[in-house]
Amino acid sequence: MTSVRFEPAGPLRGSLRPPPDKSISHRAALFAAMCDEPVTVRNYLDSQDTRSTVAALLSLGAAVEESRAADPGARCDLLVRGVGLHGALEATGGRLDVGNSGTLLRLLPAWLAGQAGGEWSLDGDESIRRRPVDRVVEPLARMGAGVQAREGRFTPLLVRGTELQGIEYELPVASAQVKSCVLIAGMLADGSTTLIEGSQSRDHTERILRRSRVPFERVGRSTTVASVDELELDEVVVPGDPSSAAFMVAAACLVPGSRIVIEGVGLNWTRTAFLQIAQRMGAVVLGDLEPPGTEADDEPIGEIDVAWGPLEATEVGAEEVPLAIDELTLVGLMGAFAEGETVVRDASELRHKESDRIAAVVEGLRALGADIEDSGDGFVVRGDGTPLRGGTLDARGDHRLAMLGAIAGLASREGVEVVGMEAAAVSYPEFEQDLAALLR
Ligand code: S3P
Repeated sequence: MTSVRFEPAGPLRGSLRPPPDKSISHRAALFAAMCDEPVTVRNYLDSQDTRSTVAALLSLGAAVEESRAADPGARCDLLVRGVGLHGALEATGGRLDVGNSGTLLRLLPAWLAGQAGGEWSLDGDESIRRRPVDRVVEPLARMGAGVQAREGRFTPLLVRGTELQGIEYELPVASAQVKSCVLIAGMLADGSTTLIEGSQSRDHTERILRRSRVPFERVGRSTTVASVDELELDEVVVPGDPSSAAFMVAAACLVPGSRIVIEGVGLNWTRTAFLQIAQRMGAVVLGDLEPPGTEADDEPIGEIDVAWGPLEATEVGAEEVPLAIDELTLVGLMGAFAEGETVVRDASELRHKESDRIAAVVEGLRALGADIEDSGDGFVVRGDGTPLRGGTLDARGDHRLAMLGAIAGLASREGVEVVGMEAAAVSYPEFEQDLAALLR
């Protein structure tokens, strides 16, 4: 394990191009593999998680050619020659390794479930083995697939493909991964599949379905997808990841005098709630964000300009939680520097991420001097507008906690030692270099 110390530093200045979006990269590669014609994916994320997706697709029979310019950090493009909607091969040994990727674990079974006659077992690392899969087992079983999880809930997850039947399904959790699983299985199933969502979550699957010319209808919170024989997808361009950029945004919000510009970042409104929260807390955030409620085929890409301002506490609840799910721990960190009581509620989904992120942020920030409490479905943090002391933070193998620790360190009074910094490579391999460039 690598320990890295992040000393008080700043202000942050300059511009940054964040790494490609992880959620969209997974979907682009998967949809391309389900096509009959070759698909180019431009700006694919080259990280541990998205490499797990490419490796799984190769085992299922897709061919993937990577190309990139020679300079480090240059854009990676993929040319994917897919196997078609019903052409996935049985993997050698029958086992597919999803590594650390929860998205791959929840989306891939949907495709496999519709491959009549095939059988696969999905498994991953230690963190994956603690994450629930019953949320996808249930709808897939209702569609007729043979799915079996360890203790009904965990990996290894065995998937036996069959002719699926369309269903109507009300999502029990606000999860884009579960929603995507049902929609993908739905397009392979006989008849139509209708999904009812309680609250809006990221809509990348809906956008790529429309781009793949899958008949698809949305009325309020209900989405219906029709059965198709093939996908027709042109090239996919992956925007920069707003969830990776959020660490630099948080740093600029915490270190007085900072002002940074983030270029080429995804501005899909189902991903930008954190920017609105930061603005509400007092940071200056400028950018052409997509208006809430937009239903589009494409993923909007643009620029945001962030400047420090004195921070005030805020409250985040059910409507915003799924739209800022991966940034909520940063709201906790910012709350520790803000004046007043910051509350994040209705966020028990955080317990099922790469770590239990409620426990991790509460115990982690408390050890750095924060006044923070676990409230069951979230946390409450009190600040007086002064910086955290600092100390040591264990990343618990969770990439987003490692990066949170780094940002806490540079904004703190005494610095932070992050134990397990290597976890950042899951989504943001160049994190430390990019941060150093903004501090130069
Ligand atoms: C993701 C959805 C979110 C998010 C995860 C990626 C996706 O999970 O936390 O990092 O790509 O669909 P849930 O939808 O399960 O909340």
